[in-house]
Order: sequence, then C-alpha cells, then structure tokens
Amino acid sequence: MKIKLALLFGGKSVEHEISIISALQAYMSIDREKYDVIPIYISKDGEMYCGESIGNIDEYKDIKKLLSKSYTVTMARTDGRVEILRTKTKAFRKPFVDYVDIAFPIVHGTNVEDGTLAGYLNMLGLPYVGCDVLSSAIGMDKYIMKAVFKDNGIPCLDCKLYQSDDFNENPGLIMLGIEKDFDYPVIVKPINLGSSVGISKASDRAGLENALEEAFKYSKRVLIERAITNLTEINCSVLGDSQSAEASVCERPINADEILSYSDKYLGGSKSSKGMASTQRVIPADISAESTAAIQEIAVKAFKVLGCSGVARIDFMIDNESGKIYLNEINTIPGSLSFYLWEPKGVKYKELLNKMIALALKREREQQKITYAFDTNVLSGVSLGGTKGAKGAKL
Ligand SMILES: Nc1ncnc2c1ncn2[C@@H]1O[C@H](COP(=O)(O)OP(=O)(O)O)[C@@H](O)[C@H]1O
Ligand SMILES: [Mg+2]
Repeated sequence: MKIKLALLFGGKSVEHEISIISALQAYMSIDREKYDVIPIYISKDGEMYCGESIGNIDEYKDIKKLLSKSYTVTMARTDGRVEILRTKTKAFRKPFVDYVDIAFPIVHGTNVEDGTLAGYLNMLGLPYVGCDVLSSAIGMDKYIMKAVFKDNGIPCLDCKLYQSDDFNENPGLIMLGIEKDFDYPVIVKPINLGSSVGISKASDRAGLENALEEAFKYSKRVLIERAITNLTEINCSVLGDSQSAEASVCERPINADEILSYSDKYLGGSKSSKGMASTQRVIPADISAESTAAIQEIAVKAFKVLGCSGVARIDFMIDNESGKIYLNEINTIPGSLSFYLWEPKGVKYKELLNKMIALALKREREQQKITYAFDTNVLSGVSLGGTKGAKGAKL
C-alpha cells in the first residue's frame, strides 16, 4: 500500500503566495509510485481546504473561486491513525476524507514555518518532513538564531535588538543609542520575517526613523546591524539530519536592488511565477574554491547545531573589503526547497523529495524509541484535599 502524504501549504504569512508556488512545484514531482499525495491548502485565515482543484496552480489566480469549489477540513487522531475530516457535512454524508501517514509542510514565514505547524503535527502524532519545533522556531528568529550560532563559533555580524514599545515611548532616545553602537549605514530588519519584507538600509537619522517605522509594522522586535557596503551574497543548501548532513553547491543570487528584494527573489525581473527557482543567479557561485569550501563547512555545522532535518538553505554574506564570511540566516523551508542547488550535484527533484521524506520516517522510528511516558501508580494515591479525611500524596 502506498504511504498517504498530506502536502500542507499556504498559511497566515507574508510569504503565503511563495508557499503556494513552492508546494505545487513539489506536488508535481513527488514520487506517485510510493506516495498518495493529498494537497491541503491553508488560507490566510488559517482554514484548511481540500478538493479536486487544490493542487492546481492555475486555480490560484482566483482564490475566492477556488475556495468556493473546495471544502474545509481538519485533522484528528482517532483509533491510532490520523484522519482528514470535513468540518462541514451535509446530512448523511460522513466527514471522513482520507487517512494520513505523513505530512509534508511546504510553508514559508511566520505562523507556519516558525514551528507553529510542526507543533500542530506533533500534537497529532503525525510524522512530518523537515525541521522540528525548536529548530524551526530558532530558524525564524533572526536574533536568537545569531545568538545560538555565535555561541557555537559560527561567524555572524554583531547585532542589537530593539522593541517597538521602547521606540514608541521615546524614539529619539532609541535612535541615539543606535548611533552610539553603530556607524551608518545600518540595516534594520524585523526579526521574524523573510523575503526581505520590512528590511531597509539607513544612512542617516531620518532614514533610520523611516526604516524603524517600516520594520515595526511587521514585528514588535527589530534588529540592527552594520550594513556591508561591498557585499557578495552566497547561499548554500544542506540536506540531512543532525547525524548526516551534506552541503549542496553554492549559488550567488543577483540583486537588481541593493537589498536582495522580494521581486529579485521571486520574479527574477520578469513576471514569471516559478518562485525561488526563477531568481537570477550564478551556479556554482563564482567565488574561490576556498571560500566555497568554508561556506559549505559552516552551512553543515549551522544545520547540525540547530538540529535541522530535511533541507534548509543557509545564506551568507562576504564582506569584500575584509574578505570575511558571515552567516546571515537559515531558511528551514527554503523557497522551491532549493531543488536547483541539488540538481548540479546529480540529485533530481524527485529524489530530493524522496530523501526528505525518508529522513522524516527515520526520525519517527527514532522518536518511537524514546520514552515519553512511564507507568506510574501516582494517581492512585492522590487526593486534592478539601474532603473529610483526605489522605494520600500531596502535590
Ligand atoms: N548587514 C547587511 N548588509 C548589507 N545588506 C544586507 C545585510 N543584511 C541583509 N542585507 C540584504 O537584505 C537582504 C535580506 O536580508 P535577510 O537577512 O536575508 O532577510 P530575509 O529573511 O528577508 O531574506 C539580504 O539578502 C541582503 O541583500
Ligand atoms: Mg535572506
């Protein structure tokens, strides 16, 4: 019997549309000889939808129409299996849609990629592809991520964290503090977004104020770091888990703007909708063999430090002035799952997906060996007090 795989995508995130593209690219390539694939779309309101058209990218040109011919579902664990159930049923119609054996979340950004969806799947007891709750959560927080990496000797730019409440209370004081800690130009980033949303560079006080206001629109926590003015960006993907992880070839994305923008990343200058795969890039990156090897080594280390699983893309910045390499961020579910970085290594997209799913099944087998509960008779002796002559253990 084939394994039933739920492909989850969308969600309440600014990268909602990118997730649809990444997921439906994967949908076309998942091995149908091994897996029965059930696509489940999560709307921007967090409702889950199934239906015949949910796996068809063309239908997403008119999402309202698509949803009107689809139906909302939920997942529940019943009798030791996870089921997909309709949330609304007509008279005499059973809510049961299908069983699920494994989930494959292809989601980007806050409220989904940040461990939220992983936590939901953990609660269901459903094995899933990719990073667990903690590695996903750390990977989404640009500040915590750097703290963990630095603690493990991985080079990251120094940064500081600022809170919106403090900024709203006294913007002048906050900006004075920033100017004490950093020379202009600085980069201002919301700590938990992706796709360059809310990020800007500031070269003076007025620019700083605008940049902070923009970043605080998206997050209550913002980080500031020195802007590298003579910059080469390099990305490297890692596949595996904390025991065995392998680096892909490196890529050098090409920016049209100073900050690699949303349209650089996804529109590649044209109006295509191929997601990350359409970005203008040089593969393999045109940097020295030493830099490539150093980046690949740091990428694998970073992946293992967080305890990642599946595929992640780790983005680096080279300061061309000093030649120094800095890890900029990890993307625990990268756009297009970085499949284009594996093809040059001879790993076809279908094989990449198979490997990712195999890693999830391996983790599930390992989890089953860990003891999460032990038999105890503690409840038999418990009394919460208050009743006459209450005896037994006091907790
Ligand atoms: N310290 C920096 N100096 C110069 N440019 C930067 C710096 N940090 C980020 N950028 C630019 O902004 C882009 C987006 O920043 P990044 O931290 O990768 O956020 P996102 O998660 O949105 O991709 C980078 O790809 C790069 O072009
Ligand atoms: Mg980035």
